[in-house]
Amino acid sequence: MNLHVSSRDIGERTLDIVSGMKSLEGPLLPILHEIQAEFGYVPQECLPIIARELNLSRAEVHGVVTFYHDYRDHPAGRHVLKLCRAEACQSMGGDQLAERVKALLGIDFHQTTLDGAVTLEPVYCLGLCSAAPAAMLDGEVHGRLDADTVNDLVAEVRA
Ligand code: FES
Repeated sequence: MNLHVSSRDIGERTLDIVSGMKSLEGPLLPILHEIQAEFGYVPQECLPIIARELNLSRAEVHGVVTFYHDYRDHPAGRHVLKLCRAEACQSMGGDQLAERVKALLGIDFHQTTLDGAVTLEPVYCLGLCSAAPAAMLDGEVHGRLDADTVNDLVAEVRA
């Protein structure tokens, strides 16, 4: 992931990615995925390039970026904490846990703390339903969360 790039670099890299992938069937999602892997988010300046190259309107591309929760429109924090919001986790206290995490961090879903430490995101099933409620911190899954383990996770990202 390259977080220190100018707008010009973003434009050139975006064009490279789109050119290499636009012949795929249904290229938009894989292109957005690749752009997020490259920059850590989907920069606004990529959208007109993608739209032009795929013969789509900018609104169509923007609509897809905002529809899928996996795509970020701003750089993520140093840590990314994903809380499972799907049914099994909700039935095991996921809602209260989410409210606790939001209060501890002082942010809502899709937001990043002001110090850039952590981005909080919802996720819809981590495949850990038997150990609900579950979360993922920087790609590592954590199950059977309770108030104490959530405090530990938050302390870890704040450290
Ligand atoms: S519903 Fe949360 S891990 Fe499956």
